[in-house]
Amino acid sequence: MHVAHLSLTDFRSYDAVELGLEPGVTAFVGPNGQGKTNLVEALGYVATQSSHRVAADGPLVRHGAARAVVRSLIVRDDRRALVELEVNPGRANRARLNRSPVSRARDVIGLLRTVLFAPEDLAMVKGDPSERRRYLDDLLVARAPRFAGVRADYDRVLKQRGALLRTAAQARRGARAGRRAESDAAFAAAGAGDPLSTLEVWDAHLARCGAELLAARLALVEALRPLVTASYAALAPGSAPVDLDYRCSVPAAGPSPDGAEGSPPDAGTGREALEERLRSALAEVRSSELERGVTLVGPHRDDLFLGLGDLPARGYASHGESWSFALALRLAAYDLLRADGGDPVLLLDDVFAELDSRRRRRLAEIVAPAEQVLITAAVADDVPVELAGARFDVAEGNVTRVR
Ligand SMILES: Nc1ncnc2c1ncn2[C@@H]1O[C@H](COP(=O)(O)OP(=O)(O)OP(=O)(O)O)[C@@H](O)[C@H]1O
Ligand SMILES: [Mg+2]
Repeated sequence: MHVAHLSLTDFRSYDAVELGLEPGVTAFVGPNGQGKTNLVEALGYVATQSSHRVAADGPLVRHGAARAVVRSLIVRDDRRALVELEVNPGRANRARLNRSPVSRARDVIGLLRTVLFAPEDLAMVKGDPSERRRYLDDLLVARAPRFAGVRADYDRVLKQRGALLRTAAQARRGARAGRRAESDAAFAAAGAGDPLSTLEVWDAHLARCGAELLAARLALVEALRPLVTASYAALAPGSAPVDLDYRCSVPAAGPSPDGAEGSPPDAGTGREALEERLRSALAEVRSSELERGVTLVGPHRDDLFLGLGDLPARGYASHGESWSFALALRLAAYDLLRADGGDPVLLLDDVFAELDSRRRRRLAEIVAPAEQVLITAAVADDVPVELAGARFDVAEGNVTRVR
């Protein structure tokens, strides 16, 4: 697949820009702060409806404007899809597909598939577990857009259950201090009747969506492991092997009747069994949850362990090793998406400047055959010769084709 046209209105630094694009390699070159990343960020947004740089949409809208519009013409085989997104911070986005409105903006997720490599990727290796969960969940959504719904449902249930737990924690403290009236008022304010039975309803919701997400992540990690290992070995030949392991907050099942130790959930655990485990794990931690007012088990507490040799990558790997690991995770995502059908569009934001010459060449060789590769670089020399292609200069809000 490739993007044939990108048009931005009030997106980031651009008031209006129109870009015709072709398959093959295209480089955007220009000094710092001129709007190169803004272009690839816009395409990433069409694919995932989120930015790799900011958690909320506010900064995506040009300062002083009320909304941004991103239009892209996507060509897959011989079919064309015109996807238009209106970014409305604080309100629901709106989307049109081939000029007809769709009922929910997320219905157009997945029409464009991208893999974005960016300096921020280093956080997948060095940063908090949330960065690695996001890597997994973004990839789930890219492979099967219905996971956008599963993820949104899980987040919603988590939020509502969290609110209930906080009310309950507050009421408990009130009751302990003998202020019964205050405790009753806290529940009344939350619209909750009997808090424990309400909590059970949310436990069931959480276990259901949580198990679906968990099962998908466990299977995904199995699929990724050999691909990440191979990509890392290709980028850093002779290095210690890498390891990938899903660390689940849902505890191992208890010992079976024959006394065998229980094992943690893995890709072989069925979705229903996961749901059951999640539900009983929630029951076990209930009193600590009521004490602290937060949900203590579930996919939102999990991590993807990354190992290099005998050590965890986080906290131990060198800067260069961490970079190779981050690249290997993205390349593995690219392999998986490609195996599902059709090349995703590759977006390489400022990555070559970070790499030594050998890894630069390896990465260039791996991505060169892709149907479309868009690269940003501050100086033209940062674009490897293997990736010679079309070029746009980006300066002062103008994007000008020079080759
Ligand atoms: N919402 C916004 N409204 C107006 N300008 C914005 C907005 N968001 C970002 N900018 C401007 O866009 C510019 C950054 O653009 P971008 O990140 O694309 O730069 P770049 O060309 O990739 O630079 P570098 O080479 O440093 O990575 C900054 O000058 C910033 O002030
Ligand atoms: Mg940039």
